[in-house]
Amino acid sequence: MKRTTLLAYAAAALAIAGCATTQNSSSSTTPQEQHRPQFHFTPPAQWMNDPNGMVYYDGEYHLFYQHNPDSTVWGPMHWGHAVSTDMVHWEHLPIALYPDSLGTIFSGSAVVDANNTSGLGTRDTPPMVAIYTYHNADGERAGRNDFQTQGLAYSLDKGRTWKKYERNPILKNPGIKDFRDPKVSWNEKANQWIMTLAVLDHIEFYGSDNLKDWTKLSEFGKNAGGHGGVWECPDLFPLTINGQQKWVLLVSINPGGPNGGSATQYFIGNFDGRTFTSDNPPQTTLWIDYGTDNYAGVTWANVPASDGRRLFLGWMSNWLYANEVPTSTWRSAMTAPRELSLIQTEAGIRLANVPVKEMQKLRTGTTPLKAQEVNGPLDLSGQYNLSMPLLELDLDLDVARAQEAVLRFSNSKGEHLDVGYSVADKQLYIDRTQSGMVSFKDNFPGVYKAPLTVQDGKLRLHLLLDVASVEVFANGGQSVMTSIFFPNEYYNKVELISKGITGLQESKAYPLQSTRK
Ligand code: FRU
Repeated sequence: MKRTTLLAYAAAALAIAGCATTQNSSSSTTPQEQHRPQFHFTPPAQWMNDPNGMVYYDGEYHLFYQHNPDSTVWGPMHWGHAVSTDMVHWEHLPIALYPDSLGTIFSGSAVVDANNTSGLGTRDTPPMVAIYTYHNADGERAGRNDFQTQGLAYSLDKGRTWKKYERNPILKNPGIKDFRDPKVSWNEKANQWIMTLAVLDHIEFYGSDNLKDWTKLSEFGKNAGGHGGVWECPDLFPLTINGQQKWVLLVSINPGGPNGGSATQYFIGNFDGRTFTSDNPPQTTLWIDYGTDNYAGVTWANVPASDGRRLFLGWMSNWLYANEVPTSTWRSAMTAPRELSLIQTEAGIRLANVPVKEMQKLRTGTTPLKAQEVNGPLDLSGQYNLSMPLLELDLDLDVARAQEAVLRFSNSKGEHLDVGYSVADKQLYIDRTQSGMVSFKDNFPGVYKAPLTVQDGKLRLHLLLDVASVEVFANGGQSVMTSIFFPNEYYNKVELISKGITGLQESKAYPLQSTRK
C-alpha cells in the first residue's frame, strides 16, 4: 500500500473513531484492518464462512461458524464460537469443535434437547446437541464418494465445552459426495426430531427419537427450484400468515445465484411431519436476498415462544471471490441478524426479511430528513451533516415521476457505490464497479439486480451501511440486496441522485456506533 493511501486511511480512521462514540480501539482501524466491519460479526482472526449451530439458550444467542484458525483462506474446518444476549454485541469464545479422526467439521446445527431424548445429559441439565458434517479429506483424496457423514457432539455447560459422541458417525454416507449440512429441529406433528439434509441436488428428510439414530423419511427438490449448482445448508421452519401455518424451506445453492455464484433460495409449502410439498410457482426460483453476499444463512433454534420471531443470519460473502477479498488479518463477516416473515404480494406469498429490532441499539441519534423534491443530485450527508460511514437510512421515496432514483455513497477518491431503483425496469440494483478495490477478482465488480414492483410510486429504502458492506431492504424487506465492497478510503458522502423527479418524503437517518471493543 502506498504511503499516501496510508495517510488518507489514517485520517479517515480518526474521523470514524471520533464519530462512533463507543469505538475505543485503534487496533480495529490499523491499515491491516482497513475493511473490518464495525457492527457486523467478524471472527477475531483468520478465515470464517457459514454460520453454524445457531441456537438460543438461557439468555444467550449462540453463533458457531465455519472457521480455519490457521489461515485467512478456507482450509481444515473447525467450529468457531461466539455468544450474544442481543445478536448485536458478541463475545468471542474458544473454538468449540476441532477436527478428529473422522474428518474436519463442516456445517451443521445445534438444538437444546430439553427432554434429554438423547440421554446425553439429564432432565435438570439438558444437553446442547450439535449435529454437523464430518468431511474426511483423506477419503476424498483417495477417490471415495462416501467421505461426508454426520456427527454429533454435546455440551452440558451452555456450549462452553464439547464432547464428541463416542459412536460417531450417526448417519453414514450412502455413496453421494455431497451429503451435508444437517439442520435439526423438533417437529410437534411427527413427535420426533427432523433432520433436513442437503444431498447434491435435493433435500433429504430424516427422523429420530433420540438425535442418535436416524431413518430416512422423504426427498424433495430434484425437479424444483434452482439447480445451477450444488444444494447446501438447508433449513425448515413454520411461519404463519393470516392465521395459516406455512412451512419454509431454505436451500443455499452454489453456484447458480440470481447474480452469479452463491445465493439462498426458498420454497413455501407444507411439511406434514414426513414430506415437504412446495407451493412455489413453477419455473420461479425465489431468493431470500438477491445481492451477491448473503450465503448459507439459517435460523436460530430454540427461540422462546414468548419471543416468537424467526431469526436469520447469513455469511456475507460469495464463493466466487471469498478467498480473495482484500483483507489481511481475517476474512469475511456475517450479515446483520434479520427477522423473517411471510407477506402477501401480488405475485403470491413471499418471504420478507428485515434487520432485527435489536439493531436499533446501534443508533446514536436520529436525523430527520425533511420532505423535498429532488431532480438531479442532492447531497444528503452535506445537508444534514451525516456521520459516516456507519449509517442507517430509512427513506420514503415517491418515484412516480422519476426514471431512476440512486443513492450514491462516495469518498474523496471518486470511488462510489450506487444503490438504485430503475422505475422502467422495475429493478433494484447495486453497482459496485467503481466502489474501490475491485480488481482482486474479475468476477467481483458488477451491477447486480433484483426485481421490485412498487405500487403508486412508493419506494421505501431501508439501508445499513458499515465500513465494507451495504444491506438494502426495499419495501419492508420484500426485495433485499446485500453487497460487500472495499473502498480505499471510507465513504464519507451520500447523495440522492434523481433522474426525473423523486419525492423524498419525511425520512430518517441514524448515525450508528461500532460494536468493536
Ligand atoms: C457452504 C459450505 C457447506 C459446507 C461448508 C464447508 O458454504 O460449502 O456446504 O458444509 O461450506 O466449509
